[in-house]
Amino acid sequence: MSATRARVIAIDGPAAAGKGTLARRLAGHLGFAYLDTGLLYRAVAARLIEAGAGIEPAAAEAAAKALAPSDLDRSDLRGDDVAEVASKVAAMPEVRAALLSFQREFAAKPPGNRPGAVLDGRDIATVVCPGADCKLFVTASVEVRALRRLKELRQRGVDAIHTRVLREMQERDARDSQRSVAPLVPARDAVVIDTSTLDAEHAFAAALEIVEARMPDAHA
Ligand code: C5P
Repeated sequence: MSATRARVIAIDGPAAAGKGTLARRLAGHLGFAYLDTGLLYRAVAARLIEAGAGIEPAAAEAAAKALAPSDLDRSDLRGDDVAEVASKVAAMPEVRAALLSFQREFAAKPPGNRPGAVLDGRDIATVVCPGADCKLFVTASVEVRALRRLKELRQRGVDAIHTRVLREMQERDARDSQRSVAPLVPARDAVVIDTSTLDAEHAFAAALEIVEARMPDAHA
């Protein structure tokens, strides 16, 4: 670990807004470590589903406390069934508390002795890393996000229906935005990037411009 403080880029936003692609690319470009924090909630959900346990706080908290780094490598975390349970356990304060120190540790001491970290999720700028050097809120209209999700599902060979994908996305947005603990809201000092009409290339260019303005010395 170098003596200088690790730099932190916080990226929040709703599902399928393009924040994961953007975060991974920024991290690669800057030589930073990357953490997809949604995977933590998905891994808790996968453990609960696997155990056949109900979605109730004590079991969810125990699953969160038992998480190991290898849980994040599970191949079954990407499905919408897991996402739905993830957004339910994510509304439980005891689950969020159990996952907080891992995320903060990752940001403070990025693995691989990297000079910084990019974390993406829902509450990175507001709760996990309120002192982040750069905060982005990546969003898009729910219609555009549902279409992207539909395309992704079909590419994976899943027989998805547009109206259902849209409805599930609206329900997940509502749960994530209206929960009392760490709701999805842009931090006051976050810069909003609306990707409704931007492809991945343009979204990256827009984000890089903001990052370079806020962190002129960020390059490794
Ligand atoms: O980002 P992803 O869609 O994988 O996240 C799955 C769910 O995990 C979200 O719908 C949200 O409820 C929860 N989550 C969260 N806080 C984060 C990351 C994800 O509440 N920082």
